[in-house]
Amino acid sequence: MSNTVLVGIQWGDEGKAKIIDHLAEKADIVARFQGGNNAGHTIVVGKEKTVLHLIPSGILHKNTVNVVGNGVVFDMGVFLQERDALSAKGVDVGPNRLKVSEICHVILPFHQLLDRAREAVKTKIGTTGRGIGPTYGDKAMRLGVRIGEFEFPNDLKPRLKAVYQEKALQLKELGSTDIPEFEEMFSKALELYSKVKPHLVDTSRYLSEQTRAGKKILFEGAQGTLLDIDYGTYPFVTSSNTTAAFAACGTGVGPSSLNFILGLTKAYTTRVGSGPFPTECFGEDEEAGKLISQKGNEFGSTTGRARRCGWLDLVALKRAVALNGITGLALSKLDVLSGFKTIKVATHYETDGKKHQDFPNFWTKPVKAIYEELPGWSEFPGTQNESDLPATAKSFIKHIETYTGVPVVVISTGPKRDEMIIRDKRFN
Ligand code: IMP
Repeated sequence: MSNTVLVGIQWGDEGKAKIIDHLAEKADIVARFQGGNNAGHTIVVGKEKTVLHLIPSGILHKNTVNVVGNGVVFDMGVFLQERDALSAKGVDVGPNRLKVSEICHVILPFHQLLDRAREAVKTKIGTTGRGIGPTYGDKAMRLGVRIGEFEFPNDLKPRLKAVYQEKALQLKELGSTDIPEFEEMFSKALELYSKVKPHLVDTSRYLSEQTRAGKKILFEGAQGTLLDIDYGTYPFVTSSNTTAAFAACGTGVGPSSLNFILGLTKAYTTRVGSGPFPTECFGEDEEAGKLISQKGNEFGSTTGRARRCGWLDLVALKRAVALNGITGLALSKLDVLSGFKTIKVATHYETDGKKHQDFPNFWTKPVKAIYEELPGWSEFPGTQNESDLPATAKSFIKHIETYTGVPVVVISTGPKRDEMIIRDKRFN
């Protein structure tokens, strides 16, 4: 396997953890490059289910080193909880195999309070409430704290106190009263820092040394392309760049280290939180939406919220393929669509009575999805063999390839770890 970036190319929740879990067998290093504990990656091994929010999904493979890159916003408490829970299950989470960039920006209690207070009062983005937006906001405003700064508390304290005072005023204005005392917050952060410290490294140097030594890196995306801060359905997006190019900035490797861009899409579409969703199942499709939700168990692993469900949107997919420079597609949850007589895929949008194939940058006008209806297929067993797939399922896949112009190289055929067809031998 060459260095691979795995990115979700819808609104997140495409099932990245299962693919990462498979690809991690071939990788030496698994690195996260953006987002934070707003992500929720569920890995099922045998009967055991592990949900990870911050630690990379490669951690369950004992031969991988797992890296949290500088593009991630870092909640120290969540990291320690996840680390200790994994350790209790017998997973080696020592600093030799779990490394965190010393320049990650830290999520502090006032970031979470601001996230929630703003959601209650201003435009409802439907955030996860984890403080992600305010932390990235402070990073851009030069008000943030990079985790390694806790090593120099005398320098950090006065600067952070000034930031804190500003945040306390904002929180008061938003009607929030439960902001912790500064001293209490600072000493708690120092205590957490002392426990995280052994894991801290300069990830950029580490990864370039490892690359020189011939090690293979798997970059693990979080969220999805349509939630990208620049190219997503703004303002209903997350606060980081979720597209593949950011794997370089968010870990400190050069872009030439990103060799294969694997874009993951479900066989249908889901979205949590507010915002545009042209293929959402309403009206005559409402029943289909409910069925997809039940069969696909479409509930968020971070917040437990029900995901909105809809048909596959090829217009959005093609845009995501271009934005990421996708080399190959991975298709998840094909089995969830089994049993439908026909399956819809959106091939065009209609705006102002005009049919087109452009995913909009602005969502001020209503956008109607125009569908093509394809024949469905009956249930098939979770399989690794393409020959087990019904002919109509294969032609559905072909349809995606023809429309997007890129091959589908991985197909997930069931929830279990080994229920996956690998068409590209690099990923076998
Ligand atoms: P935030 O990332 O918590 O600020 O939330 C912003 C938007 O991104 C909301 O619509 C969230 O529901 C969505 N979001 C954030 N993380 C994920 C994820 O891992 N999967 C799907 N949606 C997400």
